[in-house]
Amino acid sequence: MAVQTLEVHPLDGPHPQFGAEIDNVDLDNLSDADFETIRNTLYNYHVIVLKNQAGVSPKAQYEITKRFDPACEGNYGHGKTLDAKRSVLHPDLKTIPHQPQVQVIGNGHYDEYEGLKDITLKHPHHKSFHKSVISEEDDLDFTRFYRWHIDAALYALNPPKVTSLMAVKVPAGRRQTLRYDDGTGEEMDVPLGTTAFVSGQNMYDILSEEDKEFVRGAKVEYAAHPYIWMSPAKSRTDGLGMISDGLELPLSELPPVDESQIKILPMCWKNPVTGKLALQIHPSAIKAIHKPNGDVITDLKEARDLVHRLQRPAISPKYVYAHDWVEGDFVLFNNQGVTHSVVGAFSPEERRLFRQCNMASSEGVMGADGILY
Ligand SMILES: [Fe+2]
Repeated sequence: MAVQTLEVHPLDGPHPQFGAEIDNVDLDNLSDADFETIRNTLYNYHVIVLKNQAGVSPKAQYEITKRFDPACEGNYGHGKTLDAKRSVLHPDLKTIPHQPQVQVIGNGHYDEYEGLKDITLKHPHHKSFHKSVISEEDDLDFTRFYRWHIDAALYALNPPKVTSLMAVKVPAGRRQTLRYDDGTGEEMDVPLGTTAFVSGQNMYDILSEEDKEFVRGAKVEYAAHPYIWMSPAKSRTDGLGMISDGLELPLSELPPVDESQIKILPMCWKNPVTGKLALQIHPSAIKAIHKPNGDVITDLKEARDLVHRLQRPAISPKYVYAHDWVEGDFVLFNNQGVTHSVVGAFSPEERRLFRQCNMASSEGVMGADGILY
């Protein structure tokens, strides 16, 4: 076999050490040394783009994603909760029958794809999730961050270490203006259907010293069955958490809750390679904040406002990496070190097909104290 050296090129991203492209990757014949290069790059750059991977099978996608966490059991990151019709995630993903850790997402109708027959994919649109929406006449020119998140069930299962996203079909490239619509006037020019990433490390680094000390010791309690719990509620215009109108489902309307499975996770997660801290909070799923002094903020609005104040500076345009997808792009991202969002408003004839894979981690996330939670 010819020896090919992997070439790592940092991307011209929003700030140094965020995003890298790796060329010459053969995912079907990846030596341990090559994988180590990819893993190191992932934990140093957080989002890595492998070009020209159109031939990668769902099985190979599963295998490379699992290689970051060989001890994991190979269960999809959300387990089987996607099946719950009330989950806000339910409409967005379809499971590949022969590789259930791999989900298909996109827009448009497909007669057949990897054993899925006669499927209609619908790109998530902010109008189904945000409280106020962009007007119908502006809808194809303007867009928003749909929902900033970490890929994680946040109940019973550990957050996946790595997510892979593969672009199988990408519609021809028009652009849109992304509006924050939060009174700041901020907006950014983005490729249609971009995936937006921000660095959790940067989110932490730009905090005041006082806030850094707070987030190093604070924890977030997530709602049980969070994606069902939040389903009647609506999001802020910037996609960074929910509006507190008291619409969340009461316990009596959720599936049975096992108290021992509720996740209380640190706000800061430690990078396993660099040791650096990332501020990692899924803003839509928070239920309460456990302060470093042991006090608990249970008032939802107060907890959400605090998290929004901590996270919002880091989603400003200058810190966002908005990937411009090309067919065959295979992106791996450090799901425990970035927060990301779906973006874009498609017309029905703009067809898009992506594959996503992640798995519930074999272990908890590491807090600033080095303990696994
Ligand atoms: Fe995601």
